[in-house]
Amino acid sequence: MQKYTHTFENEMNDAGFLQNSTDEHRASDARNALRSWYLRHARPLPWREKPSLYGTWLSEIMLQQTRVDTGIPKWHAFQSTFPTVADLAQASEDDVMKAWEGLGYYRRARLLHRAAKVIHEAGAFPSTHADWLELPGIGPYTAAAIASIGLGEPVAAVDGNVQRVAARWNAMPLPVDAPQGAKAIQAIADAWLHHDHPGDHNQAVMEVGALVCSPKRPQCDACPLSPTCQSAHNEDLWSQLPVKKPKKKATAWELTWHVVTHKGSVVAMKRPSEGVWANLWAFPELAPPASFAHAGLLLEPVTHILTHKRITCTFHHWQAPSLGAFQAFAKENGGQAMTWTQFQSTARPRLLTKVWDDILAALGEEELR
Ligand code: ADE
Ligand code: SF4
Repeated sequence: MQKYTHTFENEMNDAGFLQNSTDEHRASDARNALRSWYLRHARPLPWREKPSLYGTWLSEIMLQQTRVDTGIPKWHAFQSTFPTVADLAQASEDDVMKAWEGLGYYRRARLLHRAAKVIHEAGAFPSTHADWLELPGIGPYTAAAIASIGLGEPVAAVDGNVQRVAARWNAMPLPVDAPQGAKAIQAIADAWLHHDHPGDHNQAVMEVGALVCSPKRPQCDACPLSPTCQSAHNEDLWSQLPVKKPKKKATAWELTWHVVTHKGSVVAMKRPSEGVWANLWAFPELAPPASFAHAGLLLEPVTHILTHKRITCTFHHWQAPSLGAFQAFAKENGGQAMTWTQFQSTARPRLLTKVWDDILAALGEEELR
């Protein structure tokens, strides 16, 4: 049986939406439906309770690339460690990285730290969407989310969830991540926006994207937008939307880490401040000299996926012939000899924390003493 495929005959131009009063009605129906749905169905997330700018900012940075369930405990813990933006601004980078562990994408933490310093120096949080946009790590989506939730400014926030909901709602056939499609999505989001409750509104759209209009199985039956949505109950449409530009393929990366030990200590290296895992602690990638005893592979090679990289990591174990040789190897490579406990308290790539216990188990008691 041939599958019917929607051909998107009504291609819109980038100013196509909201050119007539039907669109305006449809948008205002959607706005009202989103509002009443949100008042009944919003999840009681902690940053929604009494939104502060600090808490809102932190939640939005965390949720850029982290799931809500992972974000909640981290959001509480981070604010216990750094109760105010001043505490964050004055903390060391290592402490900030440590508090970020488990969230991944550490670039966010570095930018958050830099932004905290700017805010602390200025003596106040930015008070508009445009001013938030000036800070490190704050793009249009995050600035709009913070300004609407934390300041009540009527700006529509567009993230991946919103792109998906809007693209389906208007059967928008252009790639949402290319300029023309992005403009069309923004026009829809702007038309939806509830000017009296912009923070609730933006979170309502995000919430529909997260809970109802999911990528693989949208629940049109339970969706407040179904009366106005052009893709409602239409699998041929929603399954193809949103359209995205073709993806760059992930490149393969064969990574070798050398676990060089001596009497319960190990060589750790802080990675360069640029590139993958910037400033995190890991093992050296350079093998030690031939005088070191090669004790074989510690683990089966481990596969780990980063945004554009597929890593296969091999762990070699080496034992130093003497304390002098051990320290010299550490020093020559810009590394540091540490106990395993010290190493464990550094900020490390997730690839490493993932297999940390396996490494310790493979080394055995003998090595760790
Ligand atoms: N994702 C990004 N911001 C969010 C928020 N405020 N609530 C729920 N999910 C989100
Ligand atoms: Fe998504 Fe269905 Fe709701 Fe349309 S009606 S926004 S496709 S869940």
